[in-house]
Amino acid sequence: MGKVKTKWVCQNCGYESAKYIGKCPDCGSWGTLTEEVEVKQTNPKQSIIADDSPVCLINEIEIKESIKFSTGFEELDRVLGEGLVQGSLVLLAGDPGIGKSTLILQTAGNICRKGKKLLYVCAEESSSQVKLRAQRLNVNSDNLYVYSQTNLESVINQIDNIKPQILVIDSIQSIYTSNITSSSGSVSQIRECTNSLMDIAKNKNITVIIIGHVTKDGNIAGPKVLEHMVDTVIYFEGDKYKSQRLLRSIKNRFGSTNEIGVFNMVENGLEEVTNPSELFMKERTDNAAPGSVIIATNEGTRALLVEVQALVGATSYPSPRRVSTGTEFNRLLQIIAVLEKRIGLNLSKHDVYVNVTGGIEIDEPAADLGIALAIATCYRDVIVDPNCVIIGEISLSGEIRNVSNIEKRIYEAQKLGFKKVIVPKQNKRLQGSYDIQIIEVARLMDAISACVSKI
Ligand SMILES: Nc1ncnc2c1ncn2[C@@H]1O[C@H](COP(=O)(O)OP(=O)(O)OP(=O)(O)O)[C@@H](O)[C@H]1O
Ligand SMILES: [Mg+2]
Ligand SMILES: [Zn+2]
Repeated sequence: MGKVKTKWVCQNCGYESAKYIGKCPDCGSWGTLTEEVEVKQTNPKQSIIADDSPVCLINEIEIKESIKFSTGFEELDRVLGEGLVQGSLVLLAGDPGIGKSTLILQTAGNICRKGKKLLYVCAEESSSQVKLRAQRLNVNSDNLYVYSQTNLESVINQIDNIKPQILVIDSIQSIYTSNITSSSGSVSQIRECTNSLMDIAKNKNITVIIIGHVTKDGNIAGPKVLEHMVDTVIYFEGDKYKSQRLLRSIKNRFGSTNEIGVFNMVENGLEEVTNPSELFMKERTDNAAPGSVIIATNEGTRALLVEVQALVGATSYPSPRRVSTGTEFNRLLQIIAVLEKRIGLNLSKHDVYVNVTGGIEIDEPAADLGIALAIATCYRDVIVDPNCVIIGEISLSGEIRNVSNIEKRIYEAQKLGFKKVIVPKQNKRLQGSYDIQIIEVARLMDAISACVSKI
């Protein structure tokens, strides 16, 4: 028996304290510290990197080519940075029931079909439950092993038996190691298990995918505490009542984190959406309503067309409401200020709601002009030409500033059959030839006169 240690751990962020504290000094949440008893085994812990790793000069280090392989889903590959890296540790996090197991089981099927061996540890479900899902998703392979187990040591034994190239843990909250006594799902367990899994990934060169639940409830440790321990963190998001799902990487040691992947949840599993703009445009029911504008936003290596909607109405509150969904709140305030000052819109007695459809989060200023036009047209009860896509950043003086990757955005608008695109005049020397009318604007007023008409 090893040494027994008690500590208080914040279940929200993983902060540790020797005694109870009501408010976590790290993340500021109240009542999230719980007592965890930890029995450390007396044998020294293995280190993650092999002990014989020598000290060497940077100029003399030989680079081992990291081997990447496809998941069979282009959308997932792009978010991962051209596929999964052999020997890496990936965390897939998402709300309960969003479709994490579905995504990974389908991915497992794709990978196994190409001859790789995969061990799927279902710590939450029985093997027959997984089999049922696999049947519905049409996943079958002789290389896909399913193991219903919650004990990490048993899993490690099976790794030595089966020798898979890929290991899936579904989920990290329901697995435990016998090394420590705290209950599964506690921060200590999650940390300890993730450490061991990192060990396995690096020393046995196995790609490990762990699934983690995100919960608003502070009792179960969210994957936040393990984000810094893994190589890649991917979030799977979406509205449970809608079929669309978004994949987004928030940390990636092997690629960029700007990419998003789009899927559709249907009866027999997840379908890739290779042209998301088309999907977002389909959702557009009334394409000539005041306050509706199509913008071209940049997500990683591709441009996406999305609809921005604004609702402006007389307020019944002492101070008017400003609500933004899918755009940055401070950006919205700035755009409202510019509209008031530069084109004389008086919004001080009006509530302003702005919404980006499709669940996309826009964090680039190239959406400014679209947002501004949505607000202005809703206020004046006029419409923006429904055949027009709006691109541009707005400066405080009301000038339209240039944006990056303009060509990609214009091509996306052209591809989807739009007739006109409003672009900043500052974006000079556009490369390429286009079959779409390009209108260059220098100021906010120019944009309004170029594409706004009365109903
Ligand atoms: N028989 C079915 N037909 C169609 N869709 C289904 C069916 N069963 C489940 N689904 C879809 O799959 C989703 C659940 O997927 P999945 O179990 O992969 O999610 P999860 O994120 O792993 O959930 P959990 O948090 O329970 O592990 C459901 O919300 C539903 O949309
Ligand atoms: Mg699941
Ligand atoms: Zn905390």
